[in-house]
Amino acid sequence: MTTERQPLIAGNWKMYKTQGEARALAREIRQGLNPGARAEVMVAPPYTALAAVAGELAGSPIRLSAQDTFWEGQGAYTGAISPVMLLDAGCHYVIVGHSERRQHFGDTNRDINRKLLAALVAGLVPILCIGETIEERQAEKTLKVVAEQLRDGLAGLPGEARERLVIAYEPVWAIGTGLTATPEQAQEVHAFIRSLLREFLGAAAETTRVLYGGSVTPDNALSLLSQGDIDGALVGGASLKSDSFLKIIAAAG
Ligand code: PGA
Repeated sequence: MTTERQPLIAGNWKMYKTQGEARALAREIRQGLNPGARAEVMVAPPYTALAAVAGELAGSPIRLSAQDTFWEGQGAYTGAISPVMLLDAGCHYVIVGHSERRQHFGDTNRDINRKLLAALVAGLVPILCIGETIEERQAEKTLKVVAEQLRDGLAGLPGEARERLVIAYEPVWAIGTGLTATPEQAQEVHAFIRSLLREFLGAAAETTRVLYGGSVTPDNALSLLSQGDIDGALVGGASLKSDSFLKIIAAAG
């Protein structure tokens, strides 16, 4: 982390929490949040709990995010949710390209790019997730895969949107597995991502936050967040309980 980028600690609740459970967790995080915390905090509940959590977080600095979106504004797309609907439900952020969407729902780089652009048009801030599988890492293709996902994900980005992006590097082999990239492994990829962002975004690369995700816990958060190009964390499992999530927020200073 460097001083010019405010760290972002993001909780991805995935397909967990009913409305009542989500409200209770949001309340605990709001009440437990140190008002002097340096980090910006966001939570991404499932769609069905967005409105309930928005109500619980009203008046607090904690921001709301969705976990995905469709790219069309409205229409006959059964089961889909548009960026405008997410904005209306109180979202500030939306995650796009999470590896679980790529893996289980077939999201391609092209789909993810459409989602990212539609989110920006609607006024949301997209969090673009990228990261390699274990096979790709073993074949020494990590940087190639990450570069492709980033380039394709950001294709056609309008100039004025350069300042309104967050990137999350999440090695697929580290998600939900308890295996974390070492701080050095993560920093190597983050520095590479920053160099690509300089190419794609120009000066905005210096203020764009690049989060790390993949088995972040209160025990490893500090060492990861101490790396120069790691500007926060996208947290799955450890965000489902307020005590562990609050500890990770505290690790950001
Ligand atoms: P994890 O999930 O912290 O449970 O590994 C991270 C993520 O998928 O965003």
